[in-house]
Amino acid sequence: MNIRTVSTQPFSDQKPGTSGLRKKVTTFQQAHYLENFVQSIFDSVNAPQGATLVLGGDGRFYNREAIQVILKMAAANGFGKVLVGRGGILSTPAASCVIRQYQTFGGIILSASHNPGGPDGDFGIKFNGCNGGPATESVTEAIFAKSKAISSYRMLDAADVPLDLLSETTLGNMKVKVINPVSDYADLMESLFDFGAIRSLLQGGFKIRFDAMHAVNGPYAKEILERRLGAPSGSVMNAVPLEDFGGGHPDPNLTYAHDLVEIMYGTDAPDFGAASDGDGDRNMILGKRFFVTPSDSLALLAANATLVRGYAKGLAGVARSMPTSAAVDRVAQALDIPCFETPTGWKFFGNLMDAGKVTLCGEESFGTGSSHVREKDGLWAVLFWLNILAVRKQSVETITREHWARFGRNFYSRYDYEGLPTEAANGVMRHLRDSFGTLAGTAFGRYSIQACDDFSYTDPVDGSISNGQGIRILFSDGSRIVFRLSGTGTEGATLRVYLEAFESAVSRHHLDAQEALKDLIRIALHISELQTRTGREQPTVIT
Ligand code: G6P
Ligand code: ZN
Repeated sequence: MNIRTVSTQPFSDQKPGTSGLRKKVTTFQQAHYLENFVQSIFDSVNAPQGATLVLGGDGRFYNREAIQVILKMAAANGFGKVLVGRGGILSTPAASCVIRQYQTFGGIILSASHNPGGPDGDFGIKFNGCNGGPATESVTEAIFAKSKAISSYRMLDAADVPLDLLSETTLGNMKVKVINPVSDYADLMESLFDFGAIRSLLQGGFKIRFDAMHAVNGPYAKEILERRLGAPSGSVMNAVPLEDFGGGHPDPNLTYAHDLVEIMYGTDAPDFGAASDGDGDRNMILGKRFFVTPSDSLALLAANATLVRGYAKGLAGVARSMPTSAAVDRVAQALDIPCFETPTGWKFFGNLMDAGKVTLCGEESFGTGSSHVREKDGLWAVLFWLNILAVRKQSVETITREHWARFGRNFYSRYDYEGLPTEAANGVMRHLRDSFGTLAGTAFGRYSIQACDDFSYTDPVDGSISNGQGIRILFSDGSRIVFRLSGTGTEGATLRVYLEAFESAVSRHHLDAQEALKDLIRIALHISELQTRTGREQPTVIT
């Protein structure tokens, strides 16, 4: 066995963002770049000799090369076993499921989530701990610190491991087990949801369409929706994963999931439509010519949870990220369960779930999940909806409208300004912070500002504090505007403006969100000076 210690120099830009290290493929292809980061992970997480690691990714360009590098480095760093998805594939929720199911030390997930792939696209890598969840901030900070001081990494000299057949081989002293990437995850779904009821719904003529966007969830959706639940073949579209996602942007929203949106808003639309992202953890839910916002979806799942087998005993609590609408807060109030507001990023839910404080979590960024794993989970959300639809036997739209009638409606929209010069974006944020003093108490028509702050979170489990998590402009009627810089982009800065207005009057629930929010949008642009400071008249994406 030949373990080489390779000399290297640090890169200064290996700071993990909202969800791991994400960079252009070309950045990762620089000599030593991936190796430095992987060694920094291994040096930070202190795995005991012989520990087991889970490894897989969303199959995007560079996945296969990276898997081979990581296997050889794991062997050289004393791991005893790696469970790797066949072909190097594991969706993010499936990786979380496998880490938990086999009680491994943790896992490495290769994905840039919803960012485009291909030779000119993005790549990403992150470490998840033994709970199956993304590493906490203290761990990612330790990894970053190591990456700035690294001088060598360890690598086994060996041939590549064949990954396309289920097998068990050895690499140096380490075992490599190639596992079916779908089966453990599909079994977990079958334990949570009433597959019999969903099968009957589908047999009764209820039509569904799932857009896998040529990303990792294709094989998962085929197995679960078509094979186990009997949806007609073709119900899963864009089902073949491609290294560049077919040139698309694998982000399930109304802009990028246009194939699905055309079908769901066309004549003869199916009853239910859904899509998931590059690594399978995001979801978008649609009814016939009807869009359910992710914030509403979370609230609806919480309100209907006891109809579903895996949640029949009720919820310990719920959590949402700060920019997510407060729709779920009112459900929590009605159910008399706690509701937590965390910074953006799934990693903040991990402690709450581990401590048994919450069962369901969600984010406006098309993420919903529960304590069944420690990642958000796209197909899980789809199955949760299908299970509710099978029990309630009403349309997506009717269920949503009845929900609004009972709890009120939180009109919601997010404006994204992508690819801004970093200085201009920082300037907007700075200007807003400098205006806090004058803004508080100011009235704009029927909206008056009650308070403004930069969101700060103290984790109720470990006491850690995260500052600077987004600027909140809070209005006296409960409406909000939030400004936040994205932590997942790879080019320039992305400024997100989140708009939310609460409406209790049923007579106004039919309004289009853009119409209902137009005054708030005007206020947001006015107080931020966004257009003059960035030179952008229009957002790149509205969701
Ligand atoms: C990833 C994380 C989510 C988070 C999202 C926000 O998808 O897994 O938890 O909500 O990024 O991204 P942003 O670009 O707004 O930082
Ligand atoms: Zn994702």
